[in-house]
Amino acid sequence: MRIGELLKSRLVVYGAVLVLAIVAGMAGWRLLAPGGGSRGTGTLVGGPFTLVDQQGETVSDRDFRGRLMLVYFGYTFCPDVCPMSLATMAQALDLLEPAAAERVVPIFITIDPERDTAEQLAGYAPLFHPRLVALTGSVAQVRQAAGAYRVYFAKVDEGGADDYLMDHVSFVFLMGPDGTYRRHFGPTATPEEIAGALREVLAEG
Ligand code: NI
Repeated sequence: MRIGELLKSRLVVYGAVLVLAIVAGMAGWRLLAPGGGSRGTGTLVGGPFTLVDQQGETVSDRDFRGRLMLVYFGYTFCPDVCPMSLATMAQALDLLEPAAAERVVPIFITIDPERDTAEQLAGYAPLFHPRLVALTGSVAQVRQAAGAYRVYFAKVDEGGADDYLMDHVSFVFLMGPDGTYRRHFGPTATPEEIAGALREVLAEG
């Protein structure tokens, strides 16, 4: 083999390896890409949580079995993304026929339990939807719930003790009546997209 051919065949092998790596990477990413249509197996995202609702009652994921859950993690002091996402979630519910909407529980889980007490959530949740279940808990409980949903969050420390922002990912998770992950939506998802996905899962029975 001449040196040129050798070089060429090596390039082909490297090229193939590179393409394989990219395809594998994309396949992995698709599992968590916003709106990525792939149906989840329920093993990657979601899981048990025990938290406290805006009435101060202890609530676990098992309380919502038989209904779909729309789950969003955020915090009430969020200036922009959280209110927008919660409004989108509420609008999606309002697009459904009332009987269908009743089979969906909208859930807001704070990632800022130090400021988001049950009392704080009680004033916040009704701004978006009368049935919005707003959940807080101990730092450990919130950390556990966010961990189950693979939700990243961190306090952005700007010096002020009570005046800080939280850095967090912004996904709306759609969980089936058995509590398993079905899909999720990024911040640009429309109410119509979410309502369409809800109708699909509801139609399964
Ligand atoms: Ni936010």
